[in-house]
Amino acid sequence: MYTLIDYSLDNELALIGLSRAPVNALGLTLRQELQAAFRQASSDPAVKALVVYGRGLPFCAGADIAEFGGAAFDAPALPQLLIELAGSSKPMVAAIGGLALGGGLELAMACGYRISEPKARLGFPEITLGLLPGAGGTQRLPRLIGAEAALETILAGQPLHAERALELGLADHLADSADELLDAARAYARELLQAGAPAQPAYPHAEPGVALPDNFFVDYTAKKSGQWKGQLAPHLALEAVRIACEQPLDVGLAREQELFLEAMDSPQFQALRHLFFAEREAGKVPGIDASLPLRPIGKVAVIGAGTMGGGIAMNFANIGMPVVLLEQKREALDRGLAQIRKNYEISAKRGKLTQEQVEQRMALLAGTLDYADLADADLVIEAVFESMEVKRQVFVTLDEICKPGAILATNTSTLDVDQIAAFTRRPQDVIGLHFFSPANVMRLLEVVRGKETALDVLATALKLGKQIGKLPVVSGVCYGFIGNRMLEPYAREAHRLLLEGATPAQIDRVLTDLGLNMGVLSMYDLVGIDVGYLIRTPLREALACDPSYYRLADELYALGRYGQKTGRGMYIYEGRERHDDPEVLAMAERLAAELGIQRRVISDQEIHDRCLFMLINEGIQILDEGIALRAGDIDLVWTCGYGFPTWLGGPLHYAGQLGLDHVLAGINQYRALLGAYGEQWFKPAALLEQLVAAGKTRISKD
Ligand code: CAA
Repeated sequence: MYTLIDYSLDNELALIGLSRAPVNALGLTLRQELQAAFRQASSDPAVKALVVYGRGLPFCAGADIAEFGGAAFDAPALPQLLIELAGSSKPMVAAIGGLALGGGLELAMACGYRISEPKARLGFPEITLGLLPGAGGTQRLPRLIGAEAALETILAGQPLHAERALELGLADHLADSADELLDAARAYARELLQAGAPAQPAYPHAEPGVALPDNFFVDYTAKKSGQWKGQLAPHLALEAVRIACEQPLDVGLAREQELFLEAMDSPQFQALRHLFFAEREAGKVPGIDASLPLRPIGKVAVIGAGTMGGGIAMNFANIGMPVVLLEQKREALDRGLAQIRKNYEISAKRGKLTQEQVEQRMALLAGTLDYADLADADLVIEAVFESMEVKRQVFVTLDEICKPGAILATNTSTLDVDQIAAFTRRPQDVIGLHFFSPANVMRLLEVVRGKETALDVLATALKLGKQIGKLPVVSGVCYGFIGNRMLEPYAREAHRLLLEGATPAQIDRVLTDLGLNMGVLSMYDLVGIDVGYLIRTPLREALACDPSYYRLADELYALGRYGQKTGRGMYIYEGRERHDDPEVLAMAERLAAELGIQRRVISDQEIHDRCLFMLINEGIQILDEGIALRAGDIDLVWTCGYGFPTWLGGPLHYAGQLGLDHVLAGINQYRALLGAYGEQWFKPAALLEQLVAAGKTRISKD
């Protein structure tokens, strides 16, 4: 009778096992069957209590995100279903195995009693989707654990460990292990029956607002205003919790529904949902499936113990993998290892690691000056100076000493991976693993597939990337791969606008107002104007036809003004504080005169359009060339690696929001407006023209 529920009786207990693989998302059929099972148990006089659990699966990952905009509100809609369950006349125990997220945790809260296995995670990730809990979470959680803790939990979006859930009162008990969870839940239900426990226990914080300081919500919003800039969902979630503190449950539940619908109707939810599914798609590569045998990786070697190499090495030590770190000189090696220790010590000071864990991780890291020590590594990642000649020497040596089948990876951010692979007699084993700095922190990993990279090498790199907690995105070979190639025209426009009359502060403000973590000129100052100069070097000859190309940055480089590290770049720095530099403005005026560029007042809109349209156009070009497999991959690279606001969904999703026809018209407009410069740079990608001609509203190659 049920397809997604396992209903059974254990004497006086009804056991309702949710069984919708992979994560028990509460789609329409599961909701219907859960309701039917609940009604069956409720009306069976032999049943005295109910236990809800995930049958061989995690308890429940919440509402079915794919259903939003479709059957999500078909009866029984989750909020109504949970109101019905919460009115149970018999005690209900939720047995939480694996995870209870979003609507899954709301289901657990609708059950009056909760027992969890010790490794389960409980939380409300809705905020990361641009939503708020919409099936009672914002109303029941404050009553259960108090308003402040509830607000923090909902706004953090990060799941809690079971032990923390127990401390907060979100779980009543912990089972000894996942294996014993169902037995423990049954025993708990029987204990409740024996004790004559009510079907619905009283909430510990029945009036969650009473203990709050005056003006709590106003002050809280003020405190978070910077962090929440541009985002809708945190404001709506806070409003829902405020209502929970001021209104009875039924009023709060109704208001929560309205707020949830408001969030769901917003473009921010569309954007964040797009990223959610893009992230799941990113791991899927044609030709790779679970049947492809992977190369075993038990030992890693990293060449170069600088900031990048050290950060890369930490990723592997963090998952318990031995790493050999190679440097040319003893001092550089010692410095690199000392820096890694320092990083771990900082984590220990912040309570993220124990001292024992620090020592365990350090013990996995072996320094060497001798390439021979790399002979038994399964994966070697070079993170040496960004020069083709240096890479050549490294790869020729690796080809000599590494064992057959070892994966040889380069961390280059712009150089040609195919050329690097050709330095070896095993190009099929060579791949790009482009980590972002700081490599132990940043989640993005561009996995660069050379024209000869073997499928099993690619598949192994993707799997390993996930194992070390990264978001691996596949890129083909081209200058700068996905991320840096798109950065180039975006930053080029910013630099050109300086000559035409905009100031660094204005350009950066327009970009941060849009929600970017940092304006592009501040970012260049942070990364280093010298680094930008070096990366542009191979392009210089081809771009000599545009004498304005990054001209101001080149002048700053010549003056040794490399950005934050020298205290001056586009701005003047006092510590971390940034000030406008009148000399830069004078320099821009002088260069504009030399180049015959007419200076004028530049509007914020023009800055937005020129920088963003060029970014988008390059992304579309990359998609068309097959460098990226999907538009979503490009959006992930930019949201995860370059601080593009997630609630805009990434540059290509944002283009859809702006209107593809609007973007195309804008590019053509600047092409006409900017004379020879416009003619040179403002060429719409052919795919953009095709999509607009076909009346498409989203960027996709299909
Ligand atoms: N709805 C629909 N599909 C979901 C889903 C959900 N809530 N959660 C996971 N999935 C799907 C994924 O898309 C993926 O599908 P494919 O295999 O077809 O790609 C599959 O389940 C496995 O997911 P992951 O690859 O992400 O597996 P994981 O083990 O790395 O992570 C997870 C599992 C922690 C549950 C993660 O998928 C996740 O965070 N899911 C989202 C949870 C969430 O946000 N829940 C709240 C939903 S909104 C809500 O509930 C609102 C409300 O209040 C009513």
